Amino acid sequence: MKALQRHNYGNWSQLKLSEVEIPEPTKGDVLVRVEFVGVDSSMNHLMTGTPGLVRLGTGFRNPRNPGVGQSFSGIVQAVGSSESKFQIGDRVFGIGINVLADFALAKESKIALVPDWLDSERAASFPVSALAANAALKMASKTLETALVIGGSGSVGSFLLQLLAARGVKAVVSASSKKHGWVESLGASKSITHSQVSELAHSSFDSIFVVGGDEDFGELAKLLKPGGNIVVIGSDHRGSKFAGGFLATAFVSLFSRGKIKLVVSAEKPALLLEVATLLKDATPITTSSHGLDNAVESIRRYQDGQTMGRLVIKVG
Ligand SMILES: NC(=O)c1ccc[n+]([C@@H]2O[C@H](COP(=O)([O-])OP(=O)(O)OC[C@H]3O[C@@H](n4cnc5c(N)ncnc54)[C@H](OP(=O)(O)O)[C@@H]3O)[C@@H](O)[C@H]2O)c1
Repeated sequence: MKALQRHNYGNWSQLKLSEVEIPEPTKGDVLVRVEFVGVDSSMNHLMTGTPGLVRLGTGFRNPRNPGVGQSFSGIVQAVGSSESKFQIGDRVFGIGINVLADFALAKESKIALVPDWLDSERAASFPVSALAANAALKMASKTLETALVIGGSGSVGSFLLQLLAARGVKAVVSASSKKHGWVESLGASKSITHSQVSELAHSSFDSIFVVGGDEDFGELAKLLKPGGNIVVIGSDHRGSKFAGGFLATAFVSLFSRGKIKLVVSAEKPALLLEVATLLKDATPITTSSHGLDNAVESIRRYQDGQTMGRLVIKVG
C-alpha cells in the first residue's frame, strides 16, 4: 500500500510517498481502508517534533514512527479479534495510527460508527478539532452572551464559531485579514486582526477563548465582564521552543481561582458523536484536497496558513 512518511522531523518537504506493508490488527484494533484524513495542528506537532517536549514520546533525534496522520474516516477491512465491537464493512471515524495511507490501524476505543446522516468527508473533520471546540464551550462562563475568540479561522476555531453561533452568542473573532469573510460566514458578529485584540474595550466579554496568540492573561482579564473567564485551547504561540506554552498555562491556571481554564479534550467515541450531532445542520468547514499524491502540496498550503477551517484530504 501507499503511505506518506517522513524519516526526519520537519515540515511538508520531509514527506515522501512510500510503498509499505499493510499493517495487521491485533486484539482491540481494527484495520481500516482510509477514506478521508483531517489535517490540523496536532498532526503538525507530531510531524515537526515541536515543541521539543513532544519528542519525549516520539523519538528525540528522529521520529521512531515514520507514518503521519491521526484524524480519519474509513471502512473496516479486518478486526483484531472475534470479540470486536466492529464488523468488516462498518464506516467509522475517529483517531487512527499513521492514517495518511491507503490502510491504517485504529484502536476500537478511539473510533465510532459514522451515523447514516453524516458523509465521510465531514466525519474526518470532527476528531480532535471539533472535540476541543465542544470541550472549550463546556468550560465557558455560565452566562455566555458575548465572547472573544482569539484565532477563530482554523480547525478548532471554525468549529467553535459555529457552536457559539448556534447558541446565539455574539462573538468577536480575531483572524488574518484575508480570512475575515470566512469567520463572518461562520457567525462571527465582528472580525478583527490578531493585533487589534489589545485595542478592545474593557469589560466586554463573558468568555475569551484563546486558540492562538500570546496575549498576557492579565491584559485579557481586563476585557472580561465580572465573573467572566478565559478558556485556553491552544498555547502554540506561548512558552519556549522546547516546552511550548501548555505547561506554563497549566501552572498559571492552577493559581487563577477558576478564571483561566485549560482545555484538554478527551478522544472518546461518545463525545465524537455528541459534537457531530450538535453540528449536524452546520455548514461543513472543510477545505478539501484529493489524493495522497496531492497531499504534500495541501499540507504545504496548510502549514503556510493558506487554508481555512479544517483541511480534509481524500485518500481512497
Ligand atoms: N486543548 C486541546 O485539547 C486541543 C485540541 C486541539 C488543538 N489544540 C490546540 O489548538 C490550537 C489550534 O489548533 P488548530 O488545529 O485549530 O490549528 P490550525 O487549524 O492550524 O489553526 C491555527 C489558528 O491559529 C491562528 N493564529 C495564527 N497566528 C495567530 C496569532 N498570532 N494570534 C492568534 N491566532 C493566531 C490562525 O489564524 P489565522 O490563520 O487567521 O492567522 C488559525 O485560526 C493549537 O495550539 C493546538 O495545539 C488543543
